[in-house]
Amino acid sequence: MNLLDACPKIYFGPDSLDALAELPAGPVLVLCDPYMAESGAVRQVTGRLERFGRAYSVFSEIEPDPSIQTVAASLQVLFRDKPESVVALGGGSAIDTAKAALYVCLRYKEALMGGRYIHRPFFVAVPTTSGSGSEVTSYAVLTDRADDVKIPLSDRAMIPDVAILDPSFTKTLPAAMIAYSGMDALTHAVEAYVSRKATVFTDLYAAAAAQAVCRCLPRLYAGTKDDATHQDMMLAATMAGLAFHNSSLGVCHGLAHTLGAEFHLPHGKANSIILPWVIAFNAGLGPYQDRPHLDVAARYGAFARLLGAPAGSDEAGTAWLIGLIQKFNVTFQTPASLRLAGISQGAYEAARADMTAKILRDLTTKANPVPVTAADVCRLLADVYEGGGPL
Ligand SMILES: NC(=O)c1ccc[n+]([C@@H]2O[C@H](COP(=O)([O-])OP(=O)(O)OC[C@H]3O[C@@H](n4cnc5c(N)ncnc54)[C@H](O)[C@@H]3O)[C@@H](O)[C@H]2O)c1
Ligand SMILES: [Fe+2]
Repeated sequence: MNLLDACPKIYFGPDSLDALAELPAGPVLVLCDPYMAESGAVRQVTGRLERFGRAYSVFSEIEPDPSIQTVAASLQVLFRDKPESVVALGGGSAIDTAKAALYVCLRYKEALMGGRYIHRPFFVAVPTTSGSGSEVTSYAVLTDRADDVKIPLSDRAMIPDVAILDPSFTKTLPAAMIAYSGMDALTHAVEAYVSRKATVFTDLYAAAAAQAVCRCLPRLYAGTKDDATHQDMMLAATMAGLAFHNSSLGVCHGLAHTLGAEFHLPHGKANSIILPWVIAFNAGLGPYQDRPHLDVAARYGAFARLLGAPAGSDEAGTAWLIGLIQKFNVTFQTPASLRLAGISQGAYEAARADMTAKILRDLTTKANPVPVTAADVCRLLADVYEGGGPL
């Protein structure tokens, strides 16, 4: 049986924040990161809340790759302010924190009150990056800093009720963040397309997302302020989110979560370095020729042709796709290996066994289209460290 889980309601375009007028009566809690508060961007939201007659409070202490402690702090504010609505404003980090705090709050109340008299606050996500797709997914990724591990959680209760895509926010993103978050969106599209759970719907979202990323991301990185380009990129990230929410991610994310937490690498940067290797690994190309997976190579080949690869074999299409990602990495000045990213070999070797165990436990690794063993993870870890390219 297949399912297209198409919620939440998505408003998009220049005036889309006016949809905040639909919030239920009652107080609103705005959760965001310090940048949104200090730059004044949060006034885009709070100004409207004032206009629409809603009382509000703001909690702006959410850090990138949010920790369990930050979720606990947000939970305290939820209990203190008892909002009718929560608006998460920011990138994946702010939205994921709001999701996790709402989830824990809901489950805590259920445990305490046996499931009666419980309603979750109305939940609106307003992304300010074009990357994570968190505004439409049931996933939240938290970091346990005591153990340097990123924990992806998934529960339907974490899906926002409404996503508001106002592309004007992304105009203040620094070039590196544009590249990293955009490459995260591209990775979502690629992993969703080759997922075993892919359907005709997720294929459409994944392909449209990746086509828009290819069209928009180099221009955005070069600094364009063109409204349509910012809007198309934001829609692309959301479409990639809809794709993987309805199919799955794969071992590229399994590695990125673990390496990101261990070595404090931005999530999209980690994905950019790892993705060429994972495509070769899943398809059975280059150093992984000993384990061919023709069906997976056929999916990569089809995806590559949708992005403009010349007609040819699936193997040639897969190689073209790997080359495309490597070219993006050169354009976006992303290092081609973890060694070039400045990670010391000693620290890497020391963490290898622990990282292998964490990668195998990650939800996204388990969803990879090709089974992944401890020996496979060891090989991938060695290859992404040394670099040089899989083909
Ligand atoms: N829930 C999901 O489905 C999902 C999917 C992929 C990634 N993630 C997670 O999301 C996080 C990454 O999210 P992200 O890439 O959106 O970045 P982010 O939220 O971590 O933000 C990164 C930095 O960019 C700044 N920033 C955000 N918007 C800005 C803007 N408009 N202008 C200027 N600066 C801005 C932030 O202040 C922060 O310093 C990671 O923790 C990752 O694991 C979650
Ligand atoms: Fe991601």
